[in-house]
Amino acid sequence: MANSVPPHRVRELIGAAAIQARIAELAREIDRDYRDSGELVAIGVLKGAVLFYADLVQRLTVPVMVDFFQTASYGSGTNAGEIRIKRDIDLAIRDKDVLLVEDIVDTGWTLRTILDLFRFRGARSVKLCALLDKHEARETAVAIDYCGFKIGREFVVGFGLDYAERYRNLPYVGVVEFDGAGESSR
Ligand code: IMP
Ligand code: MG
Repeated sequence: MANSVPPHRVRELIGAAAIQARIAELAREIDRDYRDSGELVAIGVLKGAVLFYADLVQRLTVPVMVDFFQTASYGSGTNAGEIRIKRDIDLAIRDKDVLLVEDIVDTGWTLRTILDLFRFRGARSVKLCALLDKHEARETAVAIDYCGFKIGREFVVGFGLDYAERYRNLPYVGVVEFDGAGESSR
């Protein structure tokens, strides 16, 4: 597929060094909070969380099991009840401490759906770690236990996040700026 997109630029918003420093802080907090768990399962949400997830789990010193989950929304936007499971986790999570690792919380519907599902399956605890919090865009309440950075409503890419599947490999987070912003035909 061509994946053609309108002309745009990416302006750096959060640099690679700042991201890595923040991940180190989050890992220290998580290490401390799960010191006595012994049953921690870190679940990364594909594909966006992959870079964040890999850097985060490398810094943990507590025992941790790794797993992945993938969702997709059915239509154009994300709405209540429109989250589809594309790939489920492999591990059983009953009586485990689940740490869900996500790239960004926007409307909150994706996370709300996954968190409810894992609680329903009998996890001992379910917490959320998100690199980015687009808090002004929230439509349903989601508590972020470990949050990297709060950002505005702008559309961001990089460090796992994509625009039409581009830019996931960038080591920083940037804002997509369209040429002729506001008057774009699509
Ligand atoms: P939700 O609206 O909180 O359900 O977020 C759904 C998903 O939309 C996130 O997990 C991201 O994959 C994607 N998303 C939300 N905001 C952005 C953005 O600014 N850039 C790239 N992807 C985004
Ligand atoms: Mg995502």
